[in-house]
Amino acid sequence: MDKLTIRGGHQLNGKIRISGAKNSALKLMAAALLTDEPVELRNMPNLADSRFMARLLSTLGVDVYWPQGDSTCRLNAANISSTIAPYDLVRKMRATFNVLGPLLGRIGHATVSLPGGCAIGARPVNFHLDAFEAMGADIVIEQGYVKAAAIRGLNGAIIDLPFPSVGATEHTMMAATLAKGTTTINNAAREPEIIDIANMLKAMGAKIEGEGTSTIRIEGVDKLKGVSYSVMPDRIEAGTYAMAAAAAGGDVLLEGAPAAEMTSLLEHLRKAGVTATVEDNGVRIQRNGARLKAVDVDVQPHPGFATDLQAQFMALMTVADGTSTITENIFENRFLHAPELNRFGADIRVQGKVATVHGVDHLVGAPVMATDLRASVSLVIAGLVAEGETEVNRIYHLDRGFENLEEKLNACGARIERGADTE
Ligand code: UD1
Repeated sequence: MDKLTIRGGHQLNGKIRISGAKNSALKLMAAALLTDEPVELRNMPNLADSRFMARLLSTLGVDVYWPQGDSTCRLNAANISSTIAPYDLVRKMRATFNVLGPLLGRIGHATVSLPGGCAIGARPVNFHLDAFEAMGADIVIEQGYVKAAAIRGLNGAIIDLPFPSVGATEHTMMAATLAKGTTTINNAAREPEIIDIANMLKAMGAKIEGEGTSTIRIEGVDKLKGVSYSVMPDRIEAGTYAMAAAAAGGDVLLEGAPAAEMTSLLEHLRKAGVTATVEDNGVRIQRNGARLKAVDVDVQPHPGFATDLQAQFMALMTVADGTSTITENIFENRFLHAPELNRFGADIRVQGKVATVHGVDHLVGAPVMATDLRASVSLVIAGLVAEGETEVNRIYHLDRGFENLEEKLNACGARIERGADTE
């Protein structure tokens, strides 16, 4: 396993090109199952997670052409040879569960392993299954597998989500494109990735309206066609580098960063004393000299502050002037990074869903352990500001979601090296 060794205390100056959005790309890949015509996805992030989804799709009989290093992935699901997504492939990455809806919509049945919990919480899939049942699917759970069947096809239905779940909104929307009649999703999630997926589905011939609002209506069609589509830029990657630059100081242009989808974060950064300027080709982040100010964060569904940026903001607040409180309202156990950040000399106390961060004047490098995808990058941010050397172990979490992380940061003056883990 690899580790990163970071020499802290260097400002970041230069440009970072933002990659395609992981969370969107994974669902767009699953959407290729909805048609027997070729699907071309451009601006694809080369990540462990997207490569993993490609592997699962191959197992289902999808013809995948995606050479290493290429940002275009070609998928052809003309001949689906299996409708079974095995445990080994689903347990490693939850988004693979999202092949269930497209298979059910197009083929009428699927057997997909339950994803199980993960480090940040239980993460059940009951909203997804309730929606498919409301659309007429028979669902049984046997030996850890969801067996779903809708032999005469899915029917449109009214789905009232108990919480605006991103995954359940996307999954239901995809399946509903091929259902008979109209599906209405109430209390839908409003994340930008949902708009991206709706845009691709519409380019394939789906009839969808209201994406990006709390009510989405999908009128089922008989067939979807192939498409060539470019994945939206990754607002979470862009936000992460914005916080890295804010923490280390300097002047970094985030090329291609989707400013309109980063409003809450940019407001919080400005309150903390960072200069965040929206430019024609991205977002510029500048901080010179002055110490950061403590700012409170209340994590909420979009357009609120994103849970996927919470750990990174906490890393930033460890060295701010004053005390900030960070409230996590989406996942029940998403503060695993707090004890690791304290190993750098930070002063963070967690009580339930609230973390109180008392700013300290400096951090000192330490050996730390990555626990989940976004948590691990918060440790990299802390390593960039800490005095001396930091070792981040178990970075396979990082490789799941950040394309060329150390190359991108090193090009701006960071000192990060990849090596073999000490474990
Ligand atoms: C997606 C993102 C993840 C992000 C999250 C919230 C992907 C691949 N992942 O995850 O990076 O942090 O949105 O923005 O896109 N819930 C249930 N039952 C369900 C579904 C969800 O109780 O059937 C709960 C979850 O446990 C959680 C909350 O709803 O507490 C929100 O989860 P959800 O929005 O579904 O997150 P994901 O789609 O899994």
